[in-house]
Amino acid sequence: MRSLKGRDLLSLADLSRDELQFLLDLAVDLKSGKVRLQRRKVLGLMFSKASTRTRVSFAVAMYQLGGQVIDLNPSVTQVSRGEPLQDTARVLDRYLDIMAIRTFEQKDLKTFADYANIPVINALTDREHPCQVLADLMTAQECFGQLAGLTFSYFGDGANNMAHSLLLGCAMAGMNIRIATPVSYPPNPDIVEQAKVLAQGKTEILVTDSPEAAAKDCHILYTDVWASMGQESETAERIPLFQPFQVNQKLLEQADPRAIVLHCLPAHRDEEITDEVMEGQQSRIWDQAENRMHAQKALLASLLGEE
Ligand code: CP
Ligand code: NVA
Repeated sequence: MRSLKGRDLLSLADLSRDELQFLLDLAVDLKSGKVRLQRRKVLGLMFSKASTRTRVSFAVAMYQLGGQVIDLNPSVTQVSRGEPLQDTARVLDRYLDIMAIRTFEQKDLKTFADYANIPVINALTDREHPCQVLADLMTAQECFGQLAGLTFSYFGDGANNMAHSLLLGCAMAGMNIRIATPVSYPPNPDIVEQAKVLAQGKTEILVTDSPEAAAKDCHILYTDVWASMGQESETAERIPLFQPFQVNQKLLEQADPRAIVLHCLPAHRDEEITDEVMEGQQSRIWDQAENRMHAQKALLASLLGEE
């Protein structure tokens, strides 16, 4: 293969006629598969909201699998200038092997997936956060040896992405799932229905406004911020409503003595969880954060057909 190694291409005129023809022929051969370069899979990260764990754990997982990552923050792509998602999806599909998208509306994620043939992963929407739940279930399994039969209790905003994905994940894993939330913040009824179908009537699905009822003898206590990304302007009105659902020592004492405490992070200490519980003996929050990377590595490998 003719090498242009080390050369600049500042103008087309930097190429000789032969070199130009060589590049055009090589492009045709690469497109047809006649010439194959050593292939390293590429993950695109298109995040419209802030992220520490998801962004970094996906990137490190992909590097450790031998792949590459491209950060496609919408502010540096044409998406922020109004290029339709349908067009962006069809173009990125031609370059990338897999994409993880963090956005607001589930329907935007669906549009992207409908127009791209490559695997598209939900890296958090307002409706769901499935990658987080893979790590949460992995952590619970590490602590208790198995998932079936455990009782998982979530305290806080019942209408947010975490509550929704935990309802589905726990029901699927044969666990009892309890959502303790103010009556004005119930989970999406379609998701509760889906969880019931998954549970096949064999495990408990409870939505309650009693934190004590949810905590009684449970194995996992879980919480999340009271105002999710995009809802920051509602923080002040939400605090007094959610205060009774705080995960604190008193609540923890009502759980099974072996119970563990999880939080997807980022946390607001002394709002949804006390500093004492977060730093306490029963917290498994840092193992949970580490498991994001392992769970997503498994997800990437399997979606890319490496496993
Ligand atoms: N838990 C979680 O998804 O964290 P990030 O928002 O930092 O990615
Ligand atoms: N419910 C939170 C989860 C953050 C990981 C949010 O959407 O902001």
